[in-house]
Amino acid sequence: MKLPLFVSKLVSKVVIYFKYRIHNSKISSNAKIFPFDNVVLGKNVSVGEGAVLSGNLFVGDYTHINRNCDFSGGRSVDVVLGKFCSVASGTSIINSNHYTNRITTYGIKEELGLNCKKKDYYEKGPITIGNDVWIGRDAIILSGVRIGNGAIVAASAVVSKDVDDYEIVGGIPAKHIKYRFSEEVRTLLLSLKWWDWSEKKIRDNSLIFDLDLTNQDDIKKLRDIVNKK
Ligand SMILES: CC(C)(COP(=O)(O)OP(=O)(O)OC[C@H]1O[C@@H](n2cnc3c(N)ncnc32)[C@H](O)[C@@H]1OP(=O)(O)O)[C@@H](O)C(=O)NCCC(=O)NCCS
Repeated sequence: MKLPLFVSKLVSKVVIYFKYRIHNSKISSNAKIFPFDNVVLGKNVSVGEGAVLSGNLFVGDYTHINRNCDFSGGRSVDVVLGKFCSVASGTSIINSNHYTNRITTYGIKEELGLNCKKKDYYEKGPITIGNDVWIGRDAIILSGVRIGNGAIVAASAVVSKDVDDYEIVGGIPAKHIKYRFSEEVRTLLLSLKWWDWSEKKIRDNSLIFDLDLTNQDDIKKLRDIVNKK
């Protein structure tokens, strides 16, 4: 359905106002969320100026999407971002590809209304971004990729392959730079799953967010917390 631009803009504003305010989300007045797509925002999500969200896109609680991000959720598959992610400005999630093995890469069926049997575009699979992921400025995340919990994507990276939990990747295409923590600490954090705690539990345990997980005394404190759980 193609609506006149002003109607589409109005519908978008009304949908944003009613649908997302109840979740306490902070949506910039000039962010664009496609009203007839399946964009689902958790509570306390923020979406910065000029960001565009579309397709089947699910964003977890407390996640920040900064200015000018372009998240094209899939049409036939989902794009899922976890909770407490920090996405720097200019980041794109690109879920569709043009066919490289046909006569044209142009979307000729859609644009000219041709009677072809096959689609113009394809998706390699869902894009899944874990919890507590930090994505640096101007990164690009491509179709079919899984980014693990606690991972970091460096500024300007192009992520074309999966990223492990607590791994830091960078470059074009993004390659392993290092892990944030030792294997033991990564396992402890994955078992703690603090992002699934209630906000009250997070507040009551606020001091764990001061731990320096390169320091042996603090690692011992984390071990004790996880073992007491
Ligand atoms: C990825 C990042 C977190 C690494 O920071 P760090 O842990 O301090 O790591 P270092 O600076 O010691 O760099 C480690 C290696 O990664 C490389 N590297 C750092 N940033 C990189 C990037 N954006 N792309 C490619 N390689 C990068 C460094 O050159 C270094 O390589 P070397 O080991 O061959 O010398 C940081 O460089 C980055 O990109 N931050 C994102 C900043 C941003 O976008 N902020 C937006 C505001 S929210």
